[in-house]
Amino acid sequence: MSQSIIGSSSAPPTIGRLAVIGLGLIGGSFAKGLRESGCCREVVGCDPDPQTQQLAVSLGVVDRMAADIADAVRGADLILLAVPVLAMESVLRQLAALDLGSAVITDTGSTKTAVVEAVRQAYGRVPPRFVPGHPIAGSERSGVEAADAGLFRRHKVILTPLEDTDQAALAVVRRAWQLLDADVEDMPLADHDEVLAATSHLPHLLAFSLVDTLASRSENLEIFRYAAGGFRDFTRIAASDPVMWRDVFLANRDAVLRSLDTFTRDLSRLRAAVEEGDANTLLGVFTRARSAREHFSKILARRAYMEPMQTQSINFIASPGGTVQGRIRVPGDKSISHRSIMLGSLAEGVTEVEGFLEGEDSLATLQAFRDMGVVIEGPHRGRVTINGVGLHGLQAPPGPIYLGNSGTSMRLLAGLLAGQKFTSELTGDASLSKRPMGRVADPLRQMGASIDTAEGGRPPLVIKGGESRLKGMDYQMPMASAQVKSCLLLAGLYAEGATSVTEPAPTRDHTERMLRGFGYPVKVEGSRVTVEPGHKLTACRIDVPADISSAAFFMVAASIAEGSDLTLEHVGINPTRVGVINILRAMGADITLSNEREVGGEPVADIRVRYAPLKGIEIPEDQVPLAIDEFPVLFIAAACAEGRTVLRGAEELRVKESDRIQVMADGLQQLGIKAEPTPDGIIIEGGVMGGATVDSHMDHRIAMSFAVASLRATADIRITDCVHVGTSFPGFIDLARSVGMNLRQEASA
Ligand code: S3P
Repeated sequence: MSQSIIGSSSAPPTIGRLAVIGLGLIGGSFAKGLRESGCCREVVGCDPDPQTQQLAVSLGVVDRMAADIADAVRGADLILLAVPVLAMESVLRQLAALDLGSAVITDTGSTKTAVVEAVRQAYGRVPPRFVPGHPIAGSERSGVEAADAGLFRRHKVILTPLEDTDQAALAVVRRAWQLLDADVEDMPLADHDEVLAATSHLPHLLAFSLVDTLASRSENLEIFRYAAGGFRDFTRIAASDPVMWRDVFLANRDAVLRSLDTFTRDLSRLRAAVEEGDANTLLGVFTRARSAREHFSKILARRAYMEPMQTQSINFIASPGGTVQGRIRVPGDKSISHRSIMLGSLAEGVTEVEGFLEGEDSLATLQAFRDMGVVIEGPHRGRVTINGVGLHGLQAPPGPIYLGNSGTSMRLLAGLLAGQKFTSELTGDASLSKRPMGRVADPLRQMGASIDTAEGGRPPLVIKGGESRLKGMDYQMPMASAQVKSCLLLAGLYAEGATSVTEPAPTRDHTERMLRGFGYPVKVEGSRVTVEPGHKLTACRIDVPADISSAAFFMVAASIAEGSDLTLEHVGINPTRVGVINILRAMGADITLSNEREVGGEPVADIRVRYAPLKGIEIPEDQVPLAIDEFPVLFIAAACAEGRTVLRGAEELRVKESDRIQVMADGLQQLGIKAEPTPDGIIIEGGVMGGATVDSHMDHRIAMSFAVASLRATADIRITDCVHVGTSFPGFIDLARSVGMNLRQEASA
């Protein structure tokens, strides 16, 4: 018995008698796998081919071969139909004439509408114990001799139950595939056929067609002697079984035609671009395709080597001790990276960005602009080239714009999109879908925008562009938010008359600085910022400084670990972002700045941090917006300080990627620190931290903060759900280890 295919099942359940009709690669692999699992009383096969009949027994694929279908299914508990789709109907007609008792029937056909139609033809209805299924797996080899008990391992199997499919029957089929370690998913029938037409049938058609075109035009097939890897990779699937594929195209005609029409239209567009020498369109298609392919490769890599996506999760294990030494540069500033893409896209000319943060949040913004027709090259080692389309050059995106975890992308884009002529929809992941968007939707509506939100002002946002021209307004912001301010200023570029925003306390001013850098006038009078329409943005160069919010983890690390001496290079020290330096210094930290200079309108410096004993303080409220993203790690500094630290006026922390007050208080308490959350802040008593398992609540900054805490903990800290660290700080683990932290990651289910 092969252990590898039993999967995670505990008590081996009994499928009873399994009958497999059609012993090709798929049917044979299913039979062999379940037979080896030991969960079947008997595996009976049926196939018209005499050689297959012999091999199936000698290769151990089945216990015995039946003489005909009636013989095969007699007394069966589960029947798998693994014959070609067009042969399905005649098999089903034979089954319909038999009394199958309570046997469950399933199939492996790759076009579900056609199979279900065949069932209907044979039975006059679809019996509730028929469960349509399709394993997405294959091999270049075919026939029973290729049967492989592990073929479906980590592969998707899609079940397409109908409304009245029997739930117990569905469970039996699901269980059988799970015993083969397949990743089973349910999907509506029509969706299945549409998805498969696009992702499988169309590529096969193209591969067959290309090889045929080349072959029939090349005498003696000589041309293939010059074909290199590209041709081989692209046409590999043209070696598939012609009869099977003929049947697939006949069976899934309508969905394939829809896919083919879309493709033909896009191909004609590319043809025209080649003919007209339209370099921009070519580059646009190629860069968008490349980034989609890279994303797809990641999904594939995860599926093949790690857990399936839904269950994949990363934990950090941070071990105690260590000092922090060296000179490092942390990745680029997240806020500035977002804005560089937005303004670069709206500018006239080509904007070159350096130091761009290749984190998932800023990449979400980049992808959003690609979706709106902007040709963006890179990122490659922090370099991005944006071929600006001008303030009025964005195009309607082909579908909803997915912004992942990124609140900044969603809020800033909301303002920008409110000024466009087209309608757009903004969506995000589970965390972003819980965050308040009323703070931007309400003032935008006051400017005349038409925006729908989900309940409670949450995403998705549907922004109906072009309904009426926005009108500028004078807005008193109720909370200190750079995102709200920036959103309204971007809307203001498209509004009639002036748009002013007054903030209750200073917040980061990257939008204002960068607008000016692109030559767009911005008036700042005290806490009031004003823009007027009618100007343009002119492309420029942007040098993104290292993100002080990412540097903050290392500033605290060096401050709390005895013997540490660390220099952080080229960090942005915009006065609206330096709260973390001010607060740490007030706690007694030893921080010196050197090499202060200005790059592209933003001040930067090298920051040296040496270990120093910290003491608790009352954090001045005016520092709160200036350190808003750094509080999770500042709480770690407070836990290591002598005495009490009190934070007030920071209720905004409750609506970040997680409720950062509650989540940090919970984690600190688990480490043995007295941490009392209050409605707008927290009170932390410095003490000794032990080890524990701490939940990051999928919040990148919480995860990294507890990793830093380990420098002063007495035992391992295990931090769960750290997959989002890549949103703002790709490479965090490697960089942390390079300066002396004891950190590793584990993938978990
Ligand atoms: C940001 C502003 C801040 C900050 C966020 C980035 C920005 O949010 O927390 O990480 O780039 O404008 P709020 O404006 O909601 O405070």
